[in-house]
Amino acid sequence: MRKRIVAGNWKMNKTPSEAALLIGELIPLVNNDNVEVVFCVPAIDIPCAVELTKDTNIKIGAENMYFEDKGAFTGEIAPGMLKDAGVKYVILGHSERRQYFAETDETVNLKVHKAFEYGLTPIICCGETLKQREQGITIEWVCMQIKIALLGLTPEQIANTVIAYEPIWAIGTGVVATKEQAQEVCSAIRACVRSIAGDEAADAIRIQYGGSVTGDSAPELFAMEDIDGGLVGGASLKPDFGRIVNA
Ligand code: PGA
Repeated sequence: MRKRIVAGNWKMNKTPSEAALLIGELIPLVNNDNVEVVFCVPAIDIPCAVELTKDTNIKIGAENMYFEDKGAFTGEIAPGMLKDAGVKYVILGHSERRQYFAETDETVNLKVHKAFEYGLTPIICCGETLKQREQGITIEWVCMQIKIALLGLTPEQIANTVIAYEPIWAIGTGVVATKEQAQEVCSAIRACVRSIAGDEAADAIRIQYGGSVTGDSAPELFAMEDIDGGLVGGASLKPDFGRIVNA
C-alpha cells in the first residue's frame, strides 16, 4: 500500500513571520498520521518552518535547489544546505521554474540525482500545456519528461521518488482536471515507470495530481487508482488545506 502524500507548494508567498502564523493555524488541521503531509516553503521560511513543525506529523520541503554541492553560484541554494536545515523533500522542475527560470528536463535530472545523494526526496513535476493537450500529445510529452528526469536512477531510487502530474492549464487557474483526465495521465506515468524500472518501483512510486486542487475536488481525485495525493498551491495557504489532507 502506498502512503498518500499531500504537499503544499507555497510558491513565493509568506514572509517568515507570516509563515509562523500560518503554520500555527494549519498544524491542528492537518494532523493525520495516515497521510504524509509536506509544506514546501520559500527558502527563507525553512528554519522557522522546521522549528515550528518539529513535534508534528508535518515535514518540510523546499521549492527548488541547485545541482552542485557548493561554489560560485550566486543566489542558489545547495542540497547540503537544505539537508542541514532539516528539509526532507524538494520540488524539482515545477512548470513555473521551467517557464520563468529556464529549467529543462536535463537540469531536473541533475537535480534529482543530487537530491538523492543528500537524502532528500524529490517531488518531480511534469505536465502539458493546453495546446499540447489539444494536439493530443499529452501522454507522450509527460512520459518524455519523466523518462529524462529519471535517467540513470536505480529502481530503488525511482521507487522512492514522488511525481506530481500538473497540467499547466490547471495551475492557478481554478480549472481543475477531471478525475478521469488526471487518472489517465497518472496511470500512463505509472506504466512508463514500469517499463523503465520494473513492477516493484511502479507499484511503490507515489504520483500526485496538482492544479487548482481544493477541499471540494480533492476527494474524487484522490479516490482514483493511480492518484496517491496532491501538490497544492493556492489552497495550501488556507485552512482548506486541512480538508485536502483529510480527503
Ligand atoms: P495551484 O498550484 O493549486 O494553485 O493550482 C499548484 C502548483 O503549482 O503546484
